[in-house]
Amino acid sequence: MDWAILFVTIFVLSDAVPMKRQAYSNGTAYLPCPSTKAQNMSLNELVVFWQDQQNLVLYEHFLGTEKLDNVNAKYLGRTSFDGDNWTLRLHNVQIKDMGSYTCFIQKKTPTGSIILQQTLTELSVIANFSEPEIELSQNVTRNSPINLTCSSKDGYPKPTKMYFLITNSTNERGDNMQISQDNVTELFSVSIRLFLRFPDGVFNMTVVCILETESMNISSKPYNLVPESQFVRENQIQSVASISVMCCSVLLLFVFLVAKKCCKKQNQPGRPRGTTYTLEQDGSADRKSINLKELEPQITSAKPNAE
Ligand SMILES: *[C@@H]1O[C@H](CO)[C@@H](O)[C@H](O)[C@H]1NC(C)=O
Ligand SMILES: *[C@@H]1O[C@H](CO)[C@@H](O)[C@H](O)[C@H]1NC(C)=O
Ligand SMILES: *[C@@H]1O[C@H](CO)[C@@H](O)[C@H](O)[C@H]1NC(C)=O
Ligand SMILES: *[C@@H]1O[C@H](CO)[C@@H](O)[C@H](O)[C@H]1NC(C)=O
Ligand SMILES: *[C@@H]1O[C@H](CO)[C@@H](O)[C@H](O)[C@H]1NC(C)=O
Ligand SMILES: *[C@@H]1O[C@H](CO)[C@@H](O)[C@H](O)[C@H]1NC(C)=O
Ligand SMILES: *[C@@H]1O[C@H](CO)[C@@H](O)[C@H](O)[C@H]1NC(C)=O
Ligand SMILES: *[C@@H]1O[C@H](CO)[C@@H](O)[C@H](O)[C@H]1NC(C)=O
Repeated sequence: MDWAILFVTIFVLSDAVPMKRQAYSNGTAYLPCPSTKAQNMSLNELVVFWQDQQNLVLYEHFLGTEKLDNVNAKYLGRTSFDGDNWTLRLHNVQIKDMGSYTCFIQKKTPTGSIILQQTLTELSVIANFSEPEIELSQNVTRNSPINLTCSSKDGYPKPTKMYFLITNSTNERGDNMQISQDNVTELFSVSIRLFLRFPDGVFNMTVVCILETESMNISSKPYNLVPESQFVRENQIQSVASISVMCCSVLLLFVFLVAKKCCKKQNQPGRPRGTTYTLEQDGSADRKSINLKELEPQITSAKPNAE
């Protein structure tokens, strides 16, 4: 009696060991249905169908033809059946499709139907993170700290580590790792930050950013940091001063021109209008007179101000 129970337990366990399959997000998952116990049978005498862990039907092959009646709406149009090796392809896989799927092979008999075989598949879904990108929040100078961020997005599962490497050093730098998850796609985005100064006697640095996940490391393109100028502070002060001088000069020039224009207009009132009429009467090319007419409203509207 005890032996019989033990035997049954072992049998059920060994039959339940799930197959493991992996798919890329947006890619295709292959859900197998090995038919060892139905080897010599044709699809025409069997019912083959797949269910997810909530027992929703993905696909059904009923006595040789596809049957859609029982297929859940979320799987309609997303599957295709490979009749050669009895594999179901699930297309456009998303992170939320992760889980277990069972394939059933059923035989119809006059007294009802019996399940010949069932196969459990554990599906995991992954997505490659984008190549990490390094960004600077301000221009590189020797004197101010350099504020670097590195970010990468749309990956799954969660990354394990992210860091900067500077020139030939193997020290992993950077902090404040921020991981966020898109609540629709369930994909992760990640970023880190680094504040950096040029050490004395160093005139350029190369930075790379590395993202580590369970399955791989992804590196950013190397980023070259070269200060704009060694005397940027003084240059900045100088440029602020010269900009002020320039502004003052422009303002003075403008005041001078306006004053001059006022004097001219007071000497010759109504002259712009007169010019237009003269040109039209002279029979100049149509285009010219049109252009002048277009200008006219501006000239006339400017006139009251001038007077
Ligand atoms: C999946 O496809 C959508 C649009 O078709 C795209 O926006 C998204 O970046 C893709 N995701 C991955 C991980 O390739
Ligand atoms: C399938 O048929 C072959 C011969 O055609 C036979 O040797 C084999 O035992 C059969 N397998 C099963 C599971 O019935
Ligand atoms: C099933 O066969 C097709 C070719 O007919 C092949 O592309 C696919 O990889 C096979 N699937 C499995 C799980 O062996
Ligand atoms: C993901 O990255 C791996 C390793 O670089 C590569 O072999 C694979 O083709 C990539 N897959 C996709 C869908 O980008
Ligand atoms: C560094 O840059 C980040 C992103 O641009 C910004 O949010 C942060 O305030 C900056 N920090 C400093 C100290 O400039
Ligand atoms: C960096 O310098 C360039 C000119 O040298 C300037 O156009 C740009 O606005 C500066 N960027 C920042 C973030 O200060
Ligand atoms: C980094 O290594 C390269 C060659 O390995 C060497 O030419 C270069 O001088 C090194 N740079 C620094 C800053 O040590
Ligand atoms: C996703 O989260 C944002 C805020 O975090 C929320 O406004 C939005 O409604 C959420 N979307 C869904 C589909 O849950």
